[in-house]
Amino acid sequence: MRSIRQFAEWDFSASRSFHPETESLMSSRIEKRPAVKQRVLFSLLMGFVLFTSLVYTKGTEAPENIPSITAMGAEGRLLWQKYNCTACHQLYGLGGYLGPDLTDVMSAPGKGEAYVKAMLSVGSEVMPNYNLSSEEIEALTAFLRYVDSSGNFPERRAIRTWFGAYDIEDD
Ligand code: HEC
Repeated sequence: MRSIRQFAEWDFSASRSFHPETESLMSSRIEKRPAVKQRVLFSLLMGFVLFTSLVYTKGTEAPENIPSITAMGAEGRLLWQKYNCTACHQLYGLGGYLGPDLTDVMSAPGKGEAYVKAMLSVGSEVMPNYNLSSEEIEALTAFLRYVDSSGNFPERRAIRTWFGAYDIEDD
């Protein structure tokens, strides 16, 4: 039995005996020329660094100046959960699909606060009327206002750059 130390010190090249032709195929030109090998490794490393810096520095900026949620908005979020609005509505594309996505409803052209309040107080043929109190309606609108200020869905004007990332332009 060989010890680990003996094994580590074992000169494999001495014990290798192949046919001379196989031997010459195995020791490629790169192996014989350390300068070439270094250059190849260096360019691979540079390629990796360049690619990584492009991938991790573009398209990862968070929108600035997102106001934090107000007490009223937080109350609205609890009501959103209590009435399970998400069973039919999506925020940022996530949720049920019976009703429309509400991420931008507070700023959408032709909609906005008065429209949302009207919808919440009377419902429609397909949107249930929850007989909400005026405080509840205020809180739910505050929550939707907060969601609206946090970004857009779907993201508008997403431009694909030449290296595959997306530049998102807000309104
Ligand atoms: C049973 C499914 C369902 C539930 C639950 C529901 N909604 Fe709706 N909602 C709808 C449908 C469907 C519409 C579309 C109504 C229409 O166009 O007549 C709608 C419309 C709306 C609109 C107007 C959206 C627009 O872009 O026109 C708002 C705001 C809204 N709902 C808020 C809520 C809130 C807040 C809750 C929770 C308290 C809620 N909804 C719960 C089905 C639902």
